Amino acid sequence: MRKNLIKAGDEHLQYEIREIVEIANEIVKRGVPMIWENIGDPVAKGERLPSWMKEVVQQAVDEDQTYAYAPSKGDLEARRFILQHYSNHEICTVEDVIFFNGLGEAINKIFSNLPTDARVIGPNPTYPSHATAEAMHHGGHHLTYPLDLTRNGRIDVAQLERAVREGEDIVGILVINPNNPLGVVHPREDLEAVVRIAREHHCFLIFDEIYQNIVFDPSMIVRLADIVGDVPAISMKGVSKELPWPGSRCGWIEVYNADRDENFRGYINTIVISKMLEVCSTTLPQVVFPKIVGHPEFAGFLATRIAKYQSRANQALEIFAGCDTLRPVVPDGVFYLTVTFDSERFPKTEKLAAVNADVRDYLNSLEASNELRRDKLFAYELMGSEGVCVVPLSGFSSPYDGFRMTLLEENAELFDETCRRIRRGAEAFFRS
Ligand SMILES: Cc1ncc(COP(=O)(O)O)c(C=O)c1O
Repeated sequence: MRKNLIKAGDEHLQYEIREIVEIANEIVKRGVPMIWENIGDPVAKGERLPSWMKEVVQQAVDEDQTYAYAPSKGDLEARRFILQHYSNHEICTVEDVIFFNGLGEAINKIFSNLPTDARVIGPNPTYPSHATAEAMHHGGHHLTYPLDLTRNGRIDVAQLERAVREGEDIVGILVINPNNPLGVVHPREDLEAVVRIAREHHCFLIFDEIYQNIVFDPSMIVRLADIVGDVPAISMKGVSKELPWPGSRCGWIEVYNADRDENFRGYINTIVISKMLEVCSTTLPQVVFPKIVGHPEFAGFLATRIAKYQSRANQALEIFAGCDTLRPVVPDGVFYLTVTFDSERFPKTEKLAAVNADVRDYLNSLEASNELRRDKLFAYELMGSEGVCVVPLSGFSSPYDGFRMTLLEENAELFDETCRRIRRGAEAFFRS
């Protein structure tokens, strides 16, 4: 090429949740059937869409208007519905609700429209799309503040405050509540502290609240809209998890207090213009969203799903209990379980008995050519020996070694078997 085609910072492009699949597929090719525990897709894990929901979609498919472009910010009725049911009209108007083709797109637009030296600090562990998009826009490592796993994932407010005070480039603070990968819900006290820090240091807030309605005890959840006060902010929500319809590629942002700061309003306008360049997001899921969420069957359907995730969490916690190599983070909701390893107690690791020699050769070549963190090594070895694909926690910008699995499995017996295989693998992998 006449000139370099690769942007500075591209080495930070990472999405372990899907990257692990390429390795898993190589292992499948060598004769190991795989249990997929890597991705948060309820449908892929066997969840059935109820017939009433399909009927709503089918009716919309019969309407010619759903084949037309939508307004760039999104379908007006859907935005009105969101304002009424998800947002707060004192800090947000219908013009401040903007649809995207999935929150994944919104994440990209939010970070890529910031100047390269304007940084957003986010949690670790974190959902990798945020970390990678922020790192890419800046061309360096993502800045993070810790979630303290010794205190069930609570925000280390002191460290966050220090980082914001000392990091003059920090313009925004990202919170994922409830958190992916941890599944924990942040308490009001910590969230209010984050809002205070943003206010005192003239930063804006980004709260990814895509899982806000998937919590075991709904009274635990504190929404950004209820505590943000006068701080400029963005709340992110979407269709992928709540409905369950990740293939709809439909999510939205609610901008709060946009007019309280001219500079923030200007930034939001650049996001809107970059959306206009694409014309709009896909019309159909926006149009049907209010009809599905407003359907008389919806609340009961969602409650049943949440109860299932809770019972899977209990099942896993029971099977992992007493296994001193595995330290699960007790989730408050969402459909993931994060499990860490204790690095002090288990310094040595073993290779596991691979299902066949071909798989062993493949794993050896993979492991020899890379400096692997041991949670990656564990994930590879687990696939080769037990046929279970989990995501290494290091893929979530985590300083802790461990893995994330899902709570989505429809079949309780298969889930039981999956947890037992993971436990067996971990017990063989770690040498005390
Ligand atoms: C915390 C979080 N934010 C955003 C997304 C992206 O969602 P979408 O399917 O709308 O792109 C996910 C998907 O797993 C997620 O876990």
